[in-house]
Amino acid sequence: MRFSVLTLFPDQITDHVSKSITVRAEEKGIISVVAKDIRDHAINEYGKVDDTLYGGGTGMLMQCDPVYDSWLEIADKDQIRPYTIYVSPKGHVLDQAKVIDLSKKEHLCIICGHYEGIDSRVIDEICDEEISIGDYVLTGGELAACVIIDSVSRMIEGVLPNSEAYSNESHMGGTLEAPQYTKPAVWHGKEVPEVLRSGDLKAIEDYNGIMSYIETMKKRPDMFERLEISEEDWQKILALKKSL
Ligand code: ADE
Repeated sequence: MRFSVLTLFPDQITDHVSKSITVRAEEKGIISVVAKDIRDHAINEYGKVDDTLYGGGTGMLMQCDPVYDSWLEIADKDQIRPYTIYVSPKGHVLDQAKVIDLSKKEHLCIICGHYEGIDSRVIDEICDEEISIGDYVLTGGELAACVIIDSVSRMIEGVLPNSEAYSNESHMGGTLEAPQYTKPAVWHGKEVPEVLRSGDLKAIEDYNGIMSYIETMKKRPDMFERLEISEEDWQKILALKKSL
């Protein structure tokens, strides 16, 4: 899978990618990440890429042409148009379902805004969707692009050592992962549940399944409300909760 990032700060992307799990995925040839400097398509020799806002307002807005020409440089090389995302606080908030959806694309182009953002006309013309990484405002889209590259690439086959590494983790299947423990078995008087030390794989799987419901109920009631839970599992949840 290919990621192309259009940005005014390409080092922020390459620095991150060269230090994370994505570096191994790149070495294995599973993914490639290219950060393209939008300033290469500045509108004058002084590197101008932005201007003041029509209608007033503070700050500067990135202009259409530098963004459009950078995108064309990437899109024109390909027969297939890259699936193009603008990262912005106005977008659909990223979740695991969207991450999985994006991991099936062949080529993602992520456009990062800076200053007050980008002229809306170019976004409307080239972007397939707008994605936010949460309801807060960052100074630029680069961190959001790194979050997308990281979360999407770990869903691609061969990036993580085995698919079990993510099939049981939080947010897969709409629940949070059950609490996890390592040695020692007792720490500060807190004991690892006996079933997890029993070696009985079936009992461990059942226990973790119910604990994952309880964890979701405690920490993300909004997610818990959306779950469809069988009568049998409800009984198990109530019984286990009582014994904790
Ligand atoms: N750029 C600025 N804030 C952002 C956010 N919350 N998500 C994605 N991109 C952004």
